[in-house]
Amino acid sequence: MIHYNQEQNVFHLFNKDISYLIHVNGFGRLETLYFGEKLNDVSDILNARTLYTECTYLDKKMSLVTPTPSYFYPDTLVEISSHGIFDKRDAPIVIQHENGSYLTDFEYVKHKIYHGIKPLDGMPCLDAPLERKESLYNKENVDTLEIILKDITANVILHEYLSVYRDKNIIVKSFKIENKGKRIKLLRAFSMQLDLPSSDYYFHHFHGTQWVERQEEINKIYDGTQEIGSTRGRSSHQENPFCFLSKERNSLTDGEVIGFNLIYSGNWEMRVTKTPYDSLHLAYGINDDDFCFSLGRNESFDTPQAVISYSKDGIDGMSQTFHRLIKENLQTDKEREHNRPLIFNSWEGCLFTFDTKVIKSYIDDACKLGIELFVLDDGWFGKRDNDKSGLGDWFVNEKKINLHEVIEHCHERKLKFGIWFEPEMVNPDSDLFRSHPEWALGYEENKDWSHLERNQLVLDFTNDDVVDNIFEQMCKILDEYDIDYVKWDHNRILAEHFTANLPAEKQGEAYHRYVLGYYRLLSQLRIRYPEIFFEGCSSGGGRFDLGTLYYVPQIWTSDETDGASRAYIQYYTSLGYPLSTISSHVSASAQTTYPTKVDIALFGTYGYEMNPNKLSEREFAEMNRGTEIYHKYHDKAILNGTLYHLSNPLDHDEMSMISVSQDQSLAIAVYYEKSNIVMRMDYWKLKGLNPKKRYHLNLNGVDVPETYSGEHLMKVGYYLRDIFRRQNKTILLILKESNY
Ligand code: DGJ
Repeated sequence: MIHYNQEQNVFHLFNKDISYLIHVNGFGRLETLYFGEKLNDVSDILNARTLYTECTYLDKKMSLVTPTPSYFYPDTLVEISSHGIFDKRDAPIVIQHENGSYLTDFEYVKHKIYHGIKPLDGMPCLDAPLERKESLYNKENVDTLEIILKDITANVILHEYLSVYRDKNIIVKSFKIENKGKRIKLLRAFSMQLDLPSSDYYFHHFHGTQWVERQEEINKIYDGTQEIGSTRGRSSHQENPFCFLSKERNSLTDGEVIGFNLIYSGNWEMRVTKTPYDSLHLAYGINDDDFCFSLGRNESFDTPQAVISYSKDGIDGMSQTFHRLIKENLQTDKEREHNRPLIFNSWEGCLFTFDTKVIKSYIDDACKLGIELFVLDDGWFGKRDNDKSGLGDWFVNEKKINLHEVIEHCHERKLKFGIWFEPEMVNPDSDLFRSHPEWALGYEENKDWSHLERNQLVLDFTNDDVVDNIFEQMCKILDEYDIDYVKWDHNRILAEHFTANLPAEKQGEAYHRYVLGYYRLLSQLRIRYPEIFFEGCSSGGGRFDLGTLYYVPQIWTSDETDGASRAYIQYYTSLGYPLSTISSHVSASAQTTYPTKVDIALFGTYGYEMNPNKLSEREFAEMNRGTEIYHKYHDKAILNGTLYHLSNPLDHDEMSMISVSQDQSLAIAVYYEKSNIVMRMDYWKLKGLNPKKRYHLNLNGVDVPETYSGEHLMKVGYYLRDIFRRQNKTILLILKESNY
């Protein structure tokens, strides 16, 4: 809900738990008065603001005027810092005007308050379906304040959109920059600024690389600016756009936590500045590295939406809010909510080396694992026997594989069939590249192709002809073959980002226009093939972000499939993203045993990926335990349950979480310990159960004779006997209400 107090010029965005207050001061600048726990009485709020400083200045006649209030006093908490004036904090929007000046300073003009949230053209956003028909969505649960401002020197209008959810502690921010005057250059177009009065927080972010994605890092906010982000053209393995601030260092249940994420898949950046006045200044959005967007008269630019989640109940409060937002308000493939097939993927089993016979034998043996969908990964198209050629040529390599026969083989066994694409890439050794070398990004910069990564180049998705060509090629395959699932991969970063498609003065638009091309292709395919299940992937988890999750229900989390490292990757990922988005398979990796890998993979979407011809009877049995749990409980407890984190591996060498069904009649908990020596958690204290219900327990397949109350399990905990500690690296506990 949003109230406007006209007398005080104060906007109050609130729901039952949170308040966000903005003041339009006497100079027409926006001050951020408060963000936090719900305020029922805001009548004193103006007293909370930093008072104007009194400063001396020269008036137009060059006489000294003193004292006068000033709006640029540097410790005032503001919504939108200016640029090129006294405020030296990072401004969210920076414009270069026709005369070269960088001065960017927006003054309040008017505002609108309405029910619902505005969709963004050509970009993923909250609550809007793939095909946009309305001007506002979710009028029942979201309210929006649109503040309209004007630059003090140019005819540039800035719209700040602030939406507040009624049913979730979420604030959404974004900007539209509308040029009504002479041509300007947009040098920075972030999605939000947030100023907080105190810098007494810890900053949590998720860094890594391929095979070690999203490792949590915590540091106390320090003097100066801490910057995280990506310039790789995708959200990246190296840092994830999800990050948060916490008052307590690492408490899952207590203290204030403010989480951030960006609905975007390209370059992004978060700058966290502790100001000299000990306040905190956050600026977040599309990375301004090599970014320069030119706007002519009547052209405009929409920034992606930034989402902010507020919790006063520690990290899990924030996590659960983000999980609900992603599932209820972001994801557009509602079909897949309760309809995730158990997948077998061919990649780790045979890589590029297969033919029809091999794949049919894989299907036959994979059937013994109770799978529902077989995926033929890389290698079925063009001239593709290794990673040196073929990308860009999306026609079946009939010498290698008879796809109709393979699909029929699946259907005869009541299996669905899925296939792999890497639509945004091209190998120089491909028909597509030979006929259109200029369709590769960086063509001019790097004609001798010395900078190949995985022998491939990125297609220029800023160019509509390129996107259309790939769309047509993919449609041909999807129309001719009976395909139920597409795995969409992306195995190279954008390094040379010169585009032959844009003139010199528009090269700074390449990164963003590329992302828009990716969204266009994905969206067109989703609309044309509503029955096909699309899964995201980018050399594992290089594009695990909210932009992609708008289009696809799940993303391949990491190419690291061994239980040990996977346990941590999945735990950290689940702090920001629901388990239903975390694609996880049991693989043949050597370090951990199959039972351990099953337990870990169950805390994701679950599937298999190995050479099934090599599995022993014992191994089939070990995995079929997972299949059974998957079919009986996974949808209710994991995909559609509420997740509670129990132990963070960062502080203890163990990780543990529990996912509880909505009606609290079913729950699955996992415990993983890195070392084999001692288990710290003798009493395994659970969360999220109904204190009044009694539960049957099954520990690693063994039924516990007694039942326990939810209260006991949460307050006292379940005493783990030695036998469980010694034998396994994981403990999987299934809890069923006694009359389940
Ligand atoms: C990278 C992905 O992460 C793998 O799962 C697999 O699909 C390969 N690419 C195929 O090239």
